[in-house]
Parts: sequence; C-alpha cells; structure tokens
Amino acid sequence: MMIKNICCIGAGYVGGPTMSVIASKCPEIRVNVVDLNEDRIKKWNDENVDNIPIYEPGLSDIVKECRDKNLFFSTNVEQAISDADMIFISVNTPTKTYGVGKGMAADLKYIELCARQIASVATNDKIIVEKSTLPVRTAESLKAILDNTGNGVKFDILSNPEFLAEGTAVDDLLTPDRVLIGGESSERGLAAQKALVEVYAHWVPEDRILTTNVWSSELSKLTANAFLAQRVSSINALSELCEVTEADVKEVARAIGTDSRIGPKFLNASVGFGGSCFQKDILNLVYIAKSYGLHEVADYWEQVIIMNDHQKRRFAKKIVTRLFNTVSGKKICLLGWAFKKDTNDTRESAAIYVSDYLLNEHAEVHVYDPKVKRDQIISDLLVLGNFSKEELEERVFTYEDALSCANQAHAVAIMTEWDEFKELDWKHVYDEMFKPAFLFDGRMLLNHDEMTGIGFQMYTLGKG
Ligand code: NAD
Ligand code: UDX
Repeated sequence: MMIKNICCIGAGYVGGPTMSVIASKCPEIRVNVVDLNEDRIKKWNDENVDNIPIYEPGLSDIVKECRDKNLFFSTNVEQAISDADMIFISVNTPTKTYGVGKGMAADLKYIELCARQIASVATNDKIIVEKSTLPVRTAESLKAILDNTGNGVKFDILSNPEFLAEGTAVDDLLTPDRVLIGGESSERGLAAQKALVEVYAHWVPEDRILTTNVWSSELSKLTANAFLAQRVSSINALSELCEVTEADVKEVARAIGTDSRIGPKFLNASVGFGGSCFQKDILNLVYIAKSYGLHEVADYWEQVIIMNDHQKRRFAKKIVTRLFNTVSGKKICLLGWAFKKDTNDTRESAAIYVSDYLLNEHAEVHVYDPKVKRDQIISDLLVLGNFSKEELEERVFTYEDALSCANQAHAVAIMTEWDEFKELDWKHVYDEMFKPAFLFDGRMLLNHDEMTGIGFQMYTLGKG
C-alpha cells in the first residue's frame, strides 16, 4: 500500500518537526498537521518562518521549503482525518494530575479523544500510528475504541515512538540511530508495518528501521528514556561524591566513558535533567511496574527521580550556603531558563525549581535566556503554586542580554549550557558584580581555573 496522505494530530515539539521532515523527504505525500490550539497553528502558518512556535536549529528552513506545497498546518482536524490513509497521533501524554495514578501514570485523555474522533469521522480503512510516548499495551485500548464504530471501517495500529531530542530534533530526524515500528504479525498488520517502513525508507537506510511487535515497541520507548535519565542521575550522584573527595566529575566521566561498554555520551553532570519526557516517562514506568506488583522494579527506577530532585535542591542550597547562609534581598542572576541549550522549551527545567527555592529564601531572581520570554518564566513558576502572580511580577526580573542581567548581582548561576555563555566577557561580568562575586556553574561550562583567576568565588558542579 502506497501512502499518499498523512494526517498528524498534534502540532507540538514532536508532530511539527517530524512531519516537516517527512514532507521534505516524501514530496509525493501530502502531510496535514492538525491541532486544536488555534494560536499554535497560526504561528506554524506565520508568513515569517522565524515565528513558528518551536525553535529548533534548521527547522524553519524545512518549513519554508515545504509549507503550502505538501505540508499544511490547520485546525480542521476532522477533514484531515477523513482525507488520510495514515494518521499519526502525536498529542501530549502528561503525568496525571488527578484521580487514580495521580502524579505517576500517563494521562491518556487526549489519546482517547483522538481515537474517538477518528472513529466517528473515518469512512475508509486507515493505519493509525502511535507517535506519542504511551504505556505498554495502550494499542489494545485504542483498538477497543476504534473497532467498535459499527461502520465496518478497519484500523491497523502501529507503534512508532519518536526518539528525537530537542535542540537537535532536525538532525536526529534526518539521521536517526534507528526508527522503531511495532505492528501485529497478521497479514494486515505486516502490510501496515511495510507501508510505514516505506515512508521512512525515503531517507533512512533500511537496516536502521527496526520492526517488532507492538508491545516491545511501546515498552522500548519508556525504557530508552529511563536508561538515558538513569545515566544522568548516576553521574549526578557521583558529582556530589567528587565534591567531597576532591575528585573531578569531568575527569571521572572521561575515564569511565572510554570503556567501550560504557561509552562517552550522556555523562555530563548537571544541575538536574529537565524536559517533558524523562520524569514523566520514568514515573509512568514506575506506575506500570507497581500495577503489576513489581515493587523492587518500581523502587529501582524511582530512585532516578529521587536523585534528580536531590540534585536540583542541592544546587539551590549550595547558592544559599556559599552566600553566607542568606540570599534575602540579594540579586541572584540565572543564566538560562530552557531545560537544555538550543530549545525554547522550559518544561521541567531545573531553573524553575532552583528559582522557586531561592524565592522562598527571599532572593530576587534575575533571569536571562536567549530563547525564553518573560511570560513563560512567570507561568512556569506560577505552576508550582508557591507564589502569586503579583509576587512573581515583583521579585522576578528578566533581561534581553546576559551582561545586564549580571550587572550588580551578588551571584551568577549557569543553568543552561547556551554557547553564548561560554563567550561572555567574564572579566566585565566580574567587574560589575558585588564582591565577593560568586559564580555557580551548574553545567560545567566554564574553565574553573580561569574564572578563579579573574577573581570569582567559583563553584563548579562535581569539582572538589
Ligand atoms: P506538545 O504538548 O508540544 O504537543 C502536543 C499537541 O497536541 C499540543 O499542541 C496540543 O494542543 C495537541 N492536542 C492535544 N489533544 C489534541 C486533540 N485531541 N486534537 C488535536 N490536537 C491535540 O507535546 P510534544 O512534546 O510534541 O509530545 C507529544 C508526545 O510525544 C508525548 O507523548 C511525548 O511524550 C512524546 N515525545 C516527546 C518528545 C519531546 O522531545 N518533546 C520526544 C519524543 C516523544
Ligand atoms: C529526551 C531523549 O533524549 C529523547 O530520545 C526522547 O525522544 C525525548 O527525551 P530531550 O528531553 O529532548 O530528549 O533532551 P536530552 O538531550 O535527552 O536531555 C534531557 C535532559 O537531560 C536535559 O535537561 C539535559 O540537559 C540533561 N542531560 C543530558 C544532562 O544533564 N547530562 C547529559 O549528559 C545529558
């Protein structure tokens, strides 16, 4: 079966970039990306492609090349479903904030809504692709909804989790380590799987397109994120030990990373991992394990989150203790708000939690991030519920550049590893700060000795 028309429900960090790359690599396929969020769709259609709602290096060029040729963004969900041979579901699956599984399980209400809408609109057979990250065995629930439409339409469900990382989404999509497609082993299931393989085969070598059963595919996505997050928590745990033993976590990471069984990637100690995926997916994994009565398995993975929370708190506490145990009324400059460089996404960013801690200690928080706007910063802090909007408007200050943000600060803390922070005129920053001038490097971005040479009271994460 040749796919001619794709619909993607959800124009977010995954749906937008993924569909842009599919459109660019498959000019004969029409790709309709739909979303309920009118503002988001309006931005995707903005005449100036620099205003698209998601910042990813290289993305605006691809959107420019394909938009209104074979790539369309719209709020007309029903029409796009009706026209499609293949429908990707790429909606958000956040942690539940209510009821059974609150704070742990994935909230599948948006997924179910999509399934019901597809079921009510479809008049011909369709392939449904789970692109969102879902708990293992979700396809079963989707099937139960889709197979009970009573109108004779047949649906084949595939699992095709997305492994892109934000900040490198376009590169990850263009040259993925692998594409994973889970499907049923029936004749129809295999045909559906083959149809999706053929879409990716436009640009991905076939030996990188893995096919499995649906459950392995669903579970592999949660597992991959759990393993990645576990590496960060492992090296972060070691960073604390390094600080008290005069070891240096960068050197330890290099030493262990050269073991080919361990590998060098994803061993950067940090102020704590953020992003929309790691915490949510591990909590979900823990919830699933518990629901099968596997308590040791659940406890094992939960520790990754416990360690991460500890790391964020430990960093914030370090700022307070170094500043003579009080930051009350002091100006603390945070450089970076995004959860990593090269993205405007702030979900679960460590900066949010560190700021909340400092505000609680009566500090003034001054923030600069090259891609994050003030409104986002205030709304991220509001979500934690510890301060009113009025309080935040008064005590959180935002800037258009790093130097003004650091001017007359008691302390500067690097929260996100943006390249421009490496290039800052640190001597100038030092000269304009209150003395002693404290610098907290939560990303091991700067040269410790050089900064100490300038005169900073320097704290580098993981350095004794
Ligand atoms: P997102 O919040 O950026 O985008 C989801 C979009 O879906 C939103 O714009 C929302 O309005 C829309 N939506 C929700 N319900 C809808 C409905 N019924 N009809 C139409 N539109 C609807 O989320 P995201 O970051 O793109 O993540 C999507 C999924 O992909 C999640 O399951 C996530 O775990 C997974 N994932 C995310 C990443 C990442 O880096 N962000 C990477 C891999 C996988
Ligand atoms: C992650 C997965 O990497 C990706 O495969 C999946 O599809 C979605 O979730 P993402 O959250 O976008 O991607 O970014 P990632 O590069 O994984 O970083 C996550 C967090 O871990 C960031 O806050 C990052 O700063 C932190 N991190 C990462 C570290 O602290 N140290 C590292 O060595 C690597």
